[in-house]
Amino acid sequence: GCRYDRRRPVYRVQGRIFIQKNSCPKEPEILRGVLFRPDDILIVTYPKSGTVWMQEIVPLILSQGDPVVVDTVPNWDRVPWLEARAYIQNLDQRPSPRVFITHFQYNMMPTGFLKVKPRVIYVMRNPRDVFTSYLHFSRMASYLVSPGTQTEFLNKFLDGKVIFGSWFDHVKGWLSATEQHIMYISYEEMILDLEASVTRMAQFLDTPLDSEMIRKITDRCVFKNMKKNKMSNYSLMPSTMMDQNVSEFLRKGIAGDWKNHLTAAEAENFDEFYRKQMKDVKYTFVWD
Ligand code: A3P
Repeated sequence: GCRYDRRRPVYRVQGRIFIQKNSCPKEPEILRGVLFRPDDILIVTYPKSGTVWMQEIVPLILSQGDPVVVDTVPNWDRVPWLEARAYIQNLDQRPSPRVFITHFQYNMMPTGFLKVKPRVIYVMRNPRDVFTSYLHFSRMASYLVSPGTQTEFLNKFLDGKVIFGSWFDHVKGWLSATEQHIMYISYEEMILDLEASVTRMAQFLDTPLDSEMIRKITDRCVFKNMKKNKMSNYSLMPSTMMDQNVSEFLRKGIAGDWKNHLTAAEAENFDEFYRKQMKDVKYTFVWD
């Protein structure tokens, strides 16, 4: 099952803070008492849906393309996880607009968040690719439960017996949050047209960017360039935590890699489960 270990919600590596990912926070008491500000920006993702990508893009939008922050501050410090809140220094002293990231499901968000309604960018990814990325990630990250065989991990994934629970619940929950101030975007849209995606995000964040700035940001954030940024590619993590010889964190960076991994039977099983789970969802996903 999937239980939140309150004693160890996060851990430290060389003074850096990481979420204790081997847990599934159901009652995130850790968020109680967070004083949200109306101009906070919250990036929300299900794991493996483009988290670190957003930790690159949003700071570059806010700095209007100035790369100093992404070149000098590790992704987990420049856009900290709300889950690691207790360990983030000077959370309340950070200048506005503060940018956070979280994997929490919508129904885990505290009342302060529901009242203040800070801006949210919710990023979704084809769950078949999320699964594929998650499988590789679970093999290389020593602090995660070992995934077992691909089929075993597929069953766990569809059952929501992975950290942060079911992809289906996560996406349906955040899509239902219509009273919040949310921009929805998908990993696939970002792959198809990163310039247009950056433009849309900049508009949502009320940060005017000219076309030169947008080109500059896009160029920094394409997979092959971002992969070289040691402040974003997790090479600062010791290999005892993430063994990038097993699988790199910035692994493939494409849409549709699931086709190279799922067997025909697994894909069919996935489709059937997906159809049942998503039948009442009105949102049109790029991958459908
Ligand atoms: P793959 O394993 O499919 O390559 P998260 O940051 O949420 O854990 O997600 C990681 C996934 O996002 C990985 O997917 C990673 O390669 C991909 N990713 C990270 N940065 C990217 C970028 N600049 N362009 C495309 N994909 C990126």
